[in-house]
Amino acid sequence: MKTETLVVAIGNDHTAYEFKLPIIEYLTTAGYEILDLGANNCEPVDYPDFGQAVGQALIDKKANFGIVICGTGIGISIAANRIHGVRCALCYEEETVRMARLHNDANVLAMGARIIASHKAVELVKVFLTTKTSTQTRHKVRIKKLN
Ligand code: RB5
Repeated sequence: MKTETLVVAIGNDHTAYEFKLPIIEYLTTAGYEILDLGANNCEPVDYPDFGQAVGQALIDKKANFGIVICGTGIGISIAANRIHGVRCALCYEEETVRMARLHNDANVLAMGARIIASHKAVELVKVFLTTKTSTQTRHKVRIKKLN
């Protein structure tokens, strides 16, 4: 993993193939490196495989952050959270994304391709990747307890 460029791993099932394209375009333009571990067509696949792949990429230090997307975001967030060390937050709007970074140090953002619009997802990704985790001790203690 390069130190100068943040690497973002993306995992998605078939419901989110087209949905992720504007996100990839944004990340590329903004200078992030992308590790695309998701489905790259609309043939039905199983979301747990992709949640696990992104979670594992983080734990293996191949990526700094992860983005996981399925129809609702629910299944793939559950899958990602089964990897120890992953803190995956399923969010549908900006404020919860901001809080997930600030208070929970979320390292994976989950979204639902059948729930929100693709352009909205790009806005959530921007908030996710630009919000720093709180330095307050109480939050650090709670995050440590998650592990
Ligand atoms: C696939 O139909 C759908 O179940 C999946 O994308 C996801 O929403 C599961 O949580």
